[in-house]
Amino acid sequence: MTVSLPENPIFCALDTPDLGRALKLAKNIKGHVGGLKIGLEFFNHQGPDGLKAIVGTGIPVFADLKFHDIPNTVAGAVRAIAPLGPGILNVHAAGGHAMMQAAKEAAMERAGANAPLVIGVTVLTSLDRDDLEQQGIAASPSDQVRRLAALSQEAGLDGVVCSAHEIDVLRRDCGPNFKLIVPGIRPAGAAVNDQKRVMAPADAVSAGADVLVIGRPITKSEDPGAAAAEIAASLST
Ligand code: C5P
Repeated sequence: MTVSLPENPIFCALDTPDLGRALKLAKNIKGHVGGLKIGLEFFNHQGPDGLKAIVGTGIPVFADLKFHDIPNTVAGAVRAIAPLGPGILNVHAAGGHAMMQAAKEAAMERAGANAPLVIGVTVLTSLDRDDLEQQGIAASPSDQVRRLAALSQEAGLDGVVCSAHEIDVLRRDCGPNFKLIVPGIRPAGAAVNDQKRVMAPADAVSAGADVLVIGRPITKSEDPGAAAAEIAASLST
């Protein structure tokens, strides 16, 4: 059995190399978020012990490490990360069906209800049509997202990361149980930063998002706890 997602869909992106800062943020926002996300910057600075410390806060953790290698190597990486206790981990769907299947099988080796959800990364939002063409891919980014989401589902993954504007079509393509994890979320009035196409938290949830990945609107706020609480409240009205 895989872990269940928390009721509060907000996962705060702790985009920092600093363990002390990450733990302080976690403490401030505990109770107002469903989870925390750590990524490559944090992990490459703080390693498995850093991840364990974040898991130790008791808040569900998404290890956004985007594995992409041959199936045997990715399965080994999943076997190394899963026992550290993240509730969600991810792999690049472009790694192919066999790689995704190997990742999912390795995650399911975790006993009981502790197997992390394995999520596919489709097309990075930093890539546009020209970038795909340079890689020999003629499809538009949105068609490529749909293709990779379908491939992720066929390989047995639990869901994909997608932009808010892809929720609708992927919900239709992949059905109600496929998890959609959505970054690029901005409460009304918040700075957009470098995100190109954003959506408000409540709109993304109404569209069918399961997890909202929200970083700077919380972490750069003077009062991260209050910012997270306000976003959470906007979801229950
Ligand atoms: O600060 P902000 O809310 O923009 O943070 C969004 C988080 O989601 C960051 O950790 C970023 O790396 C991640 N992300 C994203 N867009 C994607 C995939 C991941 O913004 N397509």
